[in-house]
Amino acid sequence: RSPKYRFLKQQGLKATRKLPDALIIGVKKGGTRALLEFIRVHPDVRAAGSEIHFFDRFYKKGFEWHHMPPTLEGQVTMEKTPSYFVTREVPQRVRSMNPKAKLLIVVRDPVTRAISDYTQAASMGSNGGGGLVDTSWGPVKIGVYARHLERWLHSFPLSQLLFVSGERLVVDPAAEIARVQDFLSLKRVITEKHFYFNATKGFPCLMKSEGSPSPHCLGKTKGRSHPHIDPVAISRLREFYRPFNARFYQLTGINFGWP
Ligand code: A3P
Repeated sequence: RSPKYRFLKQQGLKATRKLPDALIIGVKKGGTRALLEFIRVHPDVRAAGSEIHFFDRFYKKGFEWHHMPPTLEGQVTMEKTPSYFVTREVPQRVRSMNPKAKLLIVVRDPVTRAISDYTQAASMGSNGGGGLVDTSWGPVKIGVYARHLERWLHSFPLSQLLFVSGERLVVDPAAEIARVQDFLSLKRVITEKHFYFNATKGFPCLMKSEGSPSPHCLGKTKGRSHPHIDPVAISRLREFYRPFNARFYQLTGINFGWP
């Protein structure tokens, strides 16, 4: 824990449980685990490690159930559950918990995202529905970001959403984490010094993580190599996503530069 936390603990100030101030709502396979592991290095962030699924699966259990780690005043409480972004009922529910909630979304080229999802499904022994170019297949629909975002914008103003580039999170994690810290009104504590590029993994890793002082990369299921996909299938997917990407750039005011 941070020095401030230890100091307050010594003073007898109790940490309390509160509902999350910020949520990583998606997207699945966008780099959500990396974002959570990186931001929770910050001493003023307290985050649930596993996916909570409160607003989609366990909502009926009531706000009391929501399992967040105890926090001190001034600390940001967070959780990440990527299915929130695509689940119809979630925006309204989050709004009724906290209309001021800050929402983070890691987005990645929907074609690569779909391939990543497909790779994960294949590794678990299912290759899912009609395959990669079946546009009614769940993993393909997740990548229609504009449609999901439109739903969130009925419940939250754009200013409460931060779009993190999944591509830049790999190439320049410190820069993306700087944006995240600013958005959460946190001091810029996490900088380039916190990261190193691990050549074996092929991804940036942390010099030290939340619970441990030694270098830490994400697990084996993050940063898998993708199988060869038929280029014809890839270009069909690209054409499918093109108009939705354009709409997404328009809604967010950001050109993510996906091919
Ligand atoms: P791949 O395994 O397809 O490469 P999520 O955590 O949302 O499921 O996203 C998984 C993706 O995070 C991985 O997809 C990987 O590309 C990406 N990623 C981003 N930064 C990473 C990092 N530092 N280490 C490992 N994977 C990272």
